[in-house]
This record gives sequence, C-alpha cells and structure tokens, in this order.
Amino acid sequence: MPDQREQWKSKLGFVLAAAGSAVGLGNVWRFPFVTGEEGGAAFLIIYIIAIIIIGYPLMVTEISLGRHTQRNPVGAFKSIAPNTPWWLVGALSVLTGFVILSYYSVIAGWSLSYIVKSLAGFPIGIEATEQLFGEHTTSLFEPIFYHFLFMAIVVGVISAGVVKGIQRVVTFLMPVLVVLLLAVVIRAVTLPGAGEGLAFLFRPDFSAVSWDTILAAIGQSFFTLSLGMGAILTYGSYLSKNDEIPNSSVQVIGADALIAIISGMAIFPAVFALGFDPGEGPGLVFVTLPAVFAEMPVGGLFGFLFFVLLSIAALTSAISLLEVVVAYFVDEKQWPRKKASATIGLVAFIVGLFPVLGYSALDHVTFMGMDILDTYDFIADSIMLPLGGAMIAFFAGHVWGTRNVMEEANKSATGIRIGDWAAPLLKYIIPIGVIIVMIVGIIETIGG
Ligand code: PFF
Repeated sequence: MPDQREQWKSKLGFVLAAAGSAVGLGNVWRFPFVTGEEGGAAFLIIYIIAIIIIGYPLMVTEISLGRHTQRNPVGAFKSIAPNTPWWLVGALSVLTGFVILSYYSVIAGWSLSYIVKSLAGFPIGIEATEQLFGEHTTSLFEPIFYHFLFMAIVVGVISAGVVKGIQRVVTFLMPVLVVLLLAVVIRAVTLPGAGEGLAFLFRPDFSAVSWDTILAAIGQSFFTLSLGMGAILTYGSYLSKNDEIPNSSVQVIGADALIAIISGMAIFPAVFALGFDPGEGPGLVFVTLPAVFAEMPVGGLFGFLFFVLLSIAALTSAISLLEVVVAYFVDEKQWPRKKASATIGLVAFIVGLFPVLGYSALDHVTFMGMDILDTYDFIADSIMLPLGGAMIAFFAGHVWGTRNVMEEANKSATGIRIGDWAAPLLKYIIPIGVIIVMIVGIIETIGG
C-alpha cells in the first residue's frame, strides 16, 4: 500500500480537476459538430435533459463510490463486494480509460500541431483547409510526433502526483481556458451575420428530432462528463470527507454544460457569418474553423488562441484518463507512480499508433466502414462507456444500495442534497434505458 493516500488541497481543487476532466475535446470539438449534425437547438435541449437525469445521479454515485472506498475503480468494487465478479466492472473502467487515452491523444496531437500551423496563417477557402488537414493526418511523421509530445506532457503531469501534478496544472489552466474561450466568443458574436448561428444553437426545431438525436445526446452526455469509466470515481477517491458531493457535482456539470454551450457560441456564429456548413462533422474544428479564421478580421490571432484552448482542454481531460489506469497499478499492484505513468503512457502511445496510421500506411483497414480512429471511438464511446455507466448505476442501485450511496453523498452536505428521486433512476431507468439505447446504437451502426 502507498503510505497515505493523497487528498485535494482544497474544495476548489476537486471541482477544478473534475471540471478539467469533463471539459475537453468532447465540449469544444465533439459537442459543436454533433449539435451541427443533429440540427442545433433541439439536440441541445435533449442533451441538457440527459445530463440532468443520467449525468447528475451517476456523477454523485461515482464520486461517492470513490470517496467511500478510497480506491481505484477495481479496488472500489472489490472493497464493497468482495469475492464477487463485480471487480470486473472496475476492470472495464480501467480498460476504457486506456483505450480512450490512446486515441484521445491522437486528436489532441492534431490540435497541438494546429497551434503551430496557425502561426503561419490558415489558407483561404475550405478546399485549402481540407487539403491542409488531409496532408497533416496522412503524413507519416508529424501526427506521430505530436501524439508522442501530447502523451509525454500527460505522463509528466501524472508522474508529479495528484496535488503537485493534477491540482497544480488544472488550477492554472482552467481559468486560462475560460479567458481564451471568452475572447474567441466575443470575436465570433460580433461578426456581421453572427445572429443566424446563435439562432441555430438556441431556436429549437423539434421536427428534426429522431431516435438518433436521443442516442447522440445520451452518448455525448457520458463522454462529456467523463462518466461510465471510473475517472470521476478515481478523482472522488482523493476527496476529503468534508467536501459536499451533490454541490460539487452540480458545479462540475454546470461548468461542463456552460463551456459546451459557449464553445457552440464561438463556433456557429463564425461558421454562419461566413456561409459555411454547420453539419460538416468531425472536420468542423479542423477544416471549417481554420477556413473561418482565415477570412475573419484578426482571424490569425483567434485561430492561434482557439487551438491553444482546445489543447488545454484536451490536456486536463487526458490526465484524468491516465490517472484511472495509474491509480489501479499504484493501488493494486504497488507500482511506483512514476513507473506506472511512464509505462502506461508508452503503451497507450503505441496502441494509439494504429489510429494514426489508419490515415496513412493503414488507410485500407476499415471495420464496418469506419477507419481505425472511428472504430476505437465507436467501441469506447458507444459500447464501453454506456456499458460501464449502466453497470455502475446497477451496482449502486442493487448491490451497494441507494441508501448507502445517499448516505455517503449527503455526508457533510449543507446545501444541495441528493434525494430519493434518484433511487429509481439508478436502479432501473439508467441501467435499462442506457442498455436499450446502446443496443439500438450498435444495431444502427452495424446496419449502416
Ligand atoms: N470528458 C472528456 C471530454 O469531454 O473531452 C473526455 C473524457 C475524459 C471521457 C475522461 C472520459 C474520461 F474518463
């Protein structure tokens, strides 16, 4: 056993770290393009309902599991249900963290490279930025270099520990992130013609809602809140008994949703003002936005700021992914933290080489029509996270018991408390609902 488990040094430390984990590529890269594809405001409303009825009870549960057991995901399940196979849910969490980290770092690497590219100025016209993105992702050396660089930074932070590494970095970077984001929003909403973009984001058209929209909203709510894979559980294990779990959860979820919406407000007005397509898909941030920056007044500076903020958001999330795996090896296998960080970082880097090469040397490899990166993302986001989330809710509802969840969660709570209304959600609605949604999602993807 490591001597004394580290604890966040302040209440804000945990909230910033958990918000840092939540706010990431999911908010700034994924949320806008999914919202764009799913038709805008109507999707936004469904997404907000999903984060309240699924996200909030699950976040409270994960933090409570972590704080109660003071362990990594595998240890947490073992300590509540010893000599049962429930530890496998923890093992699934650790594996999910590892898989997401391996390809998250690839996308974060693109973002790092775009900081450098922004200095030279982005080319004018969507064909030119498409070509720039294509040249970057299909080249052999560059994406590997930036993937490695990003992973090395993540390893550096995690090696330094919970307080000296994670807490120090998020305390500095989260405020920087907010300031940069606000600067980009102010630029975007003051462009002539920006109103149409805001209307797209805020004026709902429910005729566009389909089963698909609901699936996308639920999938997005897990990913964006870092739920279903023990990241929040692990951060909760460093939380002191005096902290208020329901209150902190509301703050983290509120910050995450706000940053997603503000990211939308930074991106859609600019996209509409310059007449681009909001439904561009995953290329929205790497193809459409650079074209927007190239044409907008002082776009060079804002392009640079945007990719710095995207990289910061990715970093504070990626450290939580690595921390889940590291906490497992430190707690359960007694590995020294530095050895665990470096070894796992290296292996995740290697596993992440396949999605990188999926755009170059391995571009002939596809699974069900998806390239390697999309396949990793599909397995993690559409199967592993919902499965993990459903099992964690089921475990809390039926094995640990909702009474124990609430007791731990409401300990020292003076403000908001989690009420009995959450019990049926944890016991039945989240497990059953999420599994149905997962199965339908898989069938739709396989059916093409
Ligand atoms: N929440 C992160 C994002 O929105 O980008 C992604 C993520 C981080 C998912 C950590 C899961 C996780 F454990």
